[in-house]
Amino acid sequence: MQDKLSLMIPGPTPVPESVLLAMGRHPIGHRSADFQKIVRRTTEQLRWLHQTSGDVLALAGSGTAAMEAGIINVLSKGDTVLCGDNGKFGERWVKVAKAYGLTVQVIQAEWGQPLEPEAFRAALDADAGKQIRAVILTHSETSTGVINDLEAIAGHVRAHGTALTIADCVTSLGACDVPMDRWGLDVVGSGSQKGYMMPPGLGFVAMSDRAWSAYERSDLPKFYLDLGRYRKSAHADSNPFTPPVNLYFALEAALGMMQEEGLEAIFARHARHRAAAQAGMTAMGLPLYAAAGHGSPAITAVAPEGIDAEVLRKKVKDRFDILLAGGQDHLKGKVFRIGHLGFVCDRDVLTAVAAIEATLQELGLHTGSVGAGVAACAAALAG
Ligand SMILES: Cc1ncc(COP(=O)(O)O)c(C=O)c1O
Repeated sequence: MQDKLSLMIPGPTPVPESVLLAMGRHPIGHRSADFQKIVRRTTEQLRWLHQTSGDVLALAGSGTAAMEAGIINVLSKGDTVLCGDNGKFGERWVKVAKAYGLTVQVIQAEWGQPLEPEAFRAALDADAGKQIRAVILTHSETSTGVINDLEAIAGHVRAHGTALTIADCVTSLGACDVPMDRWGLDVVGSGSQKGYMMPPGLGFVAMSDRAWSAYERSDLPKFYLDLGRYRKSAHADSNPFTPPVNLYFALEAALGMMQEEGLEAIFARHARHRAAAQAGMTAMGLPLYAAAGHGSPAITAVAPEGIDAEVLRKKVKDRFDILLAGGQDHLKGKVFRIGHLGFVCDRDVLTAVAAIEATLQELGLHTGSVGAGVAACAAALAG
């Protein structure tokens, strides 16, 4: 049905009407006092979201631009980095680091499994010469629905003394606690089309003081993504290049909504939706892809045995106008993913589980008692 599509993918996520309306104004001059006011306010709001007193910079670009900026602004030619790789996005940061000629050591875990903090501790302990300049990892690995133990890994990085933690928090920020200063994170990358409840187009990079010290030494090539320019402008409530001003209107409105809801309530909502999605799938006999206890609050990946996940996903879309995400790479057809990130309420999760259950029944693939998925989901939502 026209205009009825419900996005249950891990980005772009649904956008509240008030945020869409905030965007639907004429652009204003990006060097005007009015725009400066918006930059000042959104900078404070971004600090609140990241739980940091440091700089949080906004760039016109997606989450990948934010992460690439983070990497190239704190590292130098020939530096060694330790990358965590347990999915598509971990894999991407290995590729970016290699593209800039960095020496890359990789700590891998199988897709669906979390990264092992002990493996990071051992590699960092073994680095007596302090060659490792940064540890790069993904907090919520969207491709597999696994949440990695960023707090523990960042703790090992701090104990190393030299390395920085560069964290991809693209689908964890705004879904669960990412207290940047308390955990000692140095670079945090994210993107507007995720927990921010906005359309795509803005990337965010938060930088610690240690990250800025590394920036002073960094000699990797950069121009548009040179964060020093963004910092200088941000301190004057401005932007070095022409920013997407309408997205700033959206940012101010969306972060205002988030502040009204409160961080604890936002995290509790995402945790409840994870529990409800997991309970619904399990009750229907659909195995979860992420290892037990390591599911992301942003996304639930499901690996239905003996069922083509793409057929199921397409049928849910055609019958119910609910868009689920498919499996990436070798998981295509084997996995579907329910996004419950950002502007998602209990009704959305209950409806998605019901639509999956009804679709299984229509396809003659429901093996248990019909209604079990919805009942388990409802019970989890009720707490
Ligand atoms: C964990 C994670 N990192 C990075 C990205 C890349 O972000 P973008 O597509 O905004 O460049 C995504 C996108 O889904 C993601 O989920």
